[in-house]
Amino acid sequence: MGNNKERVPKIGVMDSGMGGLSVLKELLDLPYSVNFLYYGDLAHAPYGEKQTSEVLELTRNVCNFFLKEEVDAILLACNTATSASAFKLREELSVPVFGMEPAIKPALLAHPGEKIALLATSVTHREEKLHALKSELGASERVVHLNCDGLATLVDHGKWGEAKLLIKNILKIPQEQGIRALVLGCTHYVFLKNEIKDLYPEAILHDGNQGTVRHLVRSLHLDGKQGRPNYNLFFSSPNNLKETEGLASQLLQKVSP
Ligand code: DGL
Repeated sequence: MGNNKERVPKIGVMDSGMGGLSVLKELLDLPYSVNFLYYGDLAHAPYGEKQTSEVLELTRNVCNFFLKEEVDAILLACNTATSASAFKLREELSVPVFGMEPAIKPALLAHPGEKIALLATSVTHREEKLHALKSELGASERVVHLNCDGLATLVDHGKWGEAKLLIKNILKIPQEQGIRALVLGCTHYVFLKNEIKDLYPEAILHDGNQGTVRHLVRSLHLDGKQGRPNYNLFFSSPNNLKETEGLASQLLQKVSP
């Protein structure tokens, strides 16, 4: 981050749309002087139902936007973008690239001997990154995959009622099988914790947001920069930008217990 103590670090935080705001929110709650640029690529959302090569290309484009803005580091606040591109972009880019990891490890540790369910997009479920993590943890038999395609788009449009209907369907398998531990493997789903808990009160939810934030703070020594964070939001939106910004500021207020 350079030696200049006065310089406020600039960090680019990206997602396909609104999901990464759940991570940005946690970063903004910290007392560190950092400028965050948030980019939601709504014009190309959802990422999770695309070809991996396309997600890589889209994520690279957003990263290039951040590089023009002279960021010091980039956070892919999107499990899908991380699965499809983090490995490659870390090789290509001149700044550190951070990503998300589904909270499978903490969920397995918190529920010894039980199965856990992973809610994620098609890309996250099928990519090598997840399979490598599962075999590293020796957990291949304990993780049940729940495909949640369609859910992120409902969050991007603030359609909470429709999202709840879709979740009801998705939760049938864990409810029937008595699987209590649910891993939210997509940053959008963090905004749906209340809906999930309403439908399945016994569920115990795990997400990777805090782990990622801790890792970012430690790696970039942000705790040496006491002060107040600042942020700017950017969206590639095909829709009404005012509406998009309105929903984004609502989401930044939405409490995620
Ligand atoms: N927020 C993204 C994630 O964490 C996914 C949303 C999408 O499909 O674009 O996986």
